[in-house]
Amino acid sequence: MGSWSRFLRSPWVLYLGLCSPLLLVFIPIIQGEVEYYADPAKYLLEFFGKAAVILFILTMAVTPLRQLFPKAEFTKALAYRRRQIGVSVFVYALLHFLLYLPYVGSVSAFVEDWDKLFILSGLLALALLMVLAGTSNNRSVRRLGGKGWKRLHKLAYVILALIIYHQAAQEKTGFRETLVYFSILFVLEVIRLFRYFKRRSA
Ligand code: HEM
Repeated sequence: MGSWSRFLRSPWVLYLGLCSPLLLVFIPIIQGEVEYYADPAKYLLEFFGKAAVILFILTMAVTPLRQLFPKAEFTKALAYRRRQIGVSVFVYALLHFLLYLPYVGSVSAFVEDWDKLFILSGLLALALLMVLAGTSNNRSVRRLGGKGWKRLHKLAYVILALIIYHQAAQEKTGFRETLVYFSILFVLEVIRLFRYFKRRSA
C-alpha cells in the first residue's frame, strides 16, 4: 500500500473529517453571524441536519464510486471507512434531533408536532439509522451472516427516501436545496444503471 493510500486511510484523516462539522459550527459563532444569534437552536438544528445529509450522501456514493473508479485511492479509502462514516450520520442526526426540543421551546409543542408527516419521516429515518449504526460492527456481521447483514443494510434506501422527503418538505428552499444535494447521488446511480444495462446487453 502506498503512502498516499495509507494517509487517506489513517484514523487522523477519518476523525478530522468526521469531526469537521463540530469545528466548522464555531465559525459563524466567532464571526458573530446574525443568523446564529437570532435563533441559535434553529441555526444548530439546520447545521447538524445538513451535516447528517452530506455524510449520508457520501456513504451512499461509495458503491457507485467504487464501480466507476475501482482503482482510485480515494474511492478505496472511502469504502474502507464506510461503516464509520455511516455511524457518524446517525450521530449528527441524533444531535439534530436533540436540538429539536430547544428549537420548538416546550415539551408540549414537541409532542404536538409528532403527527406531522415531515416530523414522522425524520423520526423513522433516525430510528432506522440507529438500527444500521447498531449493527455496523464485526460481531453483527458474524451474527447476521454476510447475506443477512447486507439485506438489513438495504434499509439505507428506505432512509434515503425518508430523508429526501424530510428535507424537501422544508417550507422555503427545501425542494431546491434537496435537489442540489441529492443530484450528485442521482447522477452517479444513473451512470451505474446505464453501465449495468450496457454490460447485460453486450
Ligand atoms: C429525529 C427526528 C427529526 C426531527 C424531529 C427533525 C426536525 C427537523 C425540523 C423541525 C427541521 C426544520 C428546521 C427549520 O424550520 O428550519 C428539520 C430540517 C432538516 N432536517 Fe430534520 N428532523 C429529524 C430527523 C432528521 C434526519 C434523520 C435527518 C438526516 C439524516 C434530518 C435532516 C434535516 C435537514 C437536512 C433539514 C433541513 C435543514 C435546512 O436546510 O434548513 N432530519 N428537521
